[in-house]
Amino acid sequence: MDKFEGRTAFITGGASGIGFAMARAFAAAGMKVAIADVEREALNAAVAKLKEGNADVLGICLDVRDRDAMEAAAATVTEAFGPVHVLCNNAGIGAGGPMHETTYGDWDWTLGVNLNGVVNGLQAFLPGMVAHGEGGHVVNTASMAGIAGFGGMGPYNASKFAVVGISEALAQDVAHANIGVSVLCPGFVKTNIFTSSRNRPADLPGREYTPSAEDEARLAEILETALSPEQVAEQVLEAVRQKQFWIFTHPQFAQVVEMKMQSMLAAFPPMPEGMEPIIPPN
Ligand SMILES: NC(=O)c1ccc[n+]([C@@H]2O[C@H](COP(=O)([O-])OP(=O)(O)OC[C@H]3O[C@@H](n4cnc5c(N)ncnc54)[C@H](O)[C@@H]3O)[C@@H](O)[C@H]2O)c1
Repeated sequence: MDKFEGRTAFITGGASGIGFAMARAFAAAGMKVAIADVEREALNAAVAKLKEGNADVLGICLDVRDRDAMEAAAATVTEAFGPVHVLCNNAGIGAGGPMHETTYGDWDWTLGVNLNGVVNGLQAFLPGMVAHGEGGHVVNTASMAGIAGFGGMGPYNASKFAVVGISEALAQDVAHANIGVSVLCPGFVKTNIFTSSRNRPADLPGREYTPSAEDEARLAEILETALSPEQVAEQVLEAVRQKQFWIFTHPQFAQVVEMKMQSMLAAFPPMPEGMEPIIPPN
């Protein structure tokens, strides 16, 4: 997408971290931005900060797990700002722990926000984006945990692998409408995700896993060298401009991907003579 000025972006989880930084980057590029978030106070503060930069901003307080609220948001944004061109399905939470200690509540919450939130964003906004015919871009926030499995992150891994798969299929589905797709796969970024439990609904079944003091100390150490959300947002803006599918932000994970791909390829039986490879379009 090469035209940003005067167009509209809708970003979930826009009150904090990567979502807020994306909102700021899109606004700086001349876009009208609508941000949605479940945290009302943080949302109001984010809207006020974005308005300081004279951006056209709309804040919508919702839970991305709520289908009706997402449908209503699509109507509200379109009424206020006109057709939506950039959809960022970004809201997410982290709930961890080894799988034998994970509760149904951890699974429900993680898949509800990180996976169903993306599904609801697509269901509510995509038909309108295809119908207006002006093209656009979808950015789905996954993670390096959407590419490789990491112990202690079962539900998170499941949700982010799903987001990567959805994005690969989506890119093929909407190419005809000149809608590009990117899947954002960051490593560690200095945001509020590590205090996600602030948003954990009280009605979930089972207690929340409490990380050990050792795990907390290791995380604090890793976070010292983590990227800033602004660095990630700049890469997102550029990827939308260039219609780039993969957004990888952390080169230190490239080797994990290489090792995984090599071990997958090595596990295939040899291709018999005369058999054709099956390659999806795009
Ligand atoms: N920070 C990292 O290290 C990292 C790494 C890889 C991927 N990610 C992904 O980046 C995305 C953004 O997270 P972040 O790191 O900026 O964290 P963050 O906590 O700073 O921001 C996430 C935002 O989502 C909102 N949110 C949470 N649940 C919601 C719900 N049910 N409905 C609506 N909004 C909700 C939060 O209130 C918050 O404002 C997430 O999808 C996360 O999984 C983050």
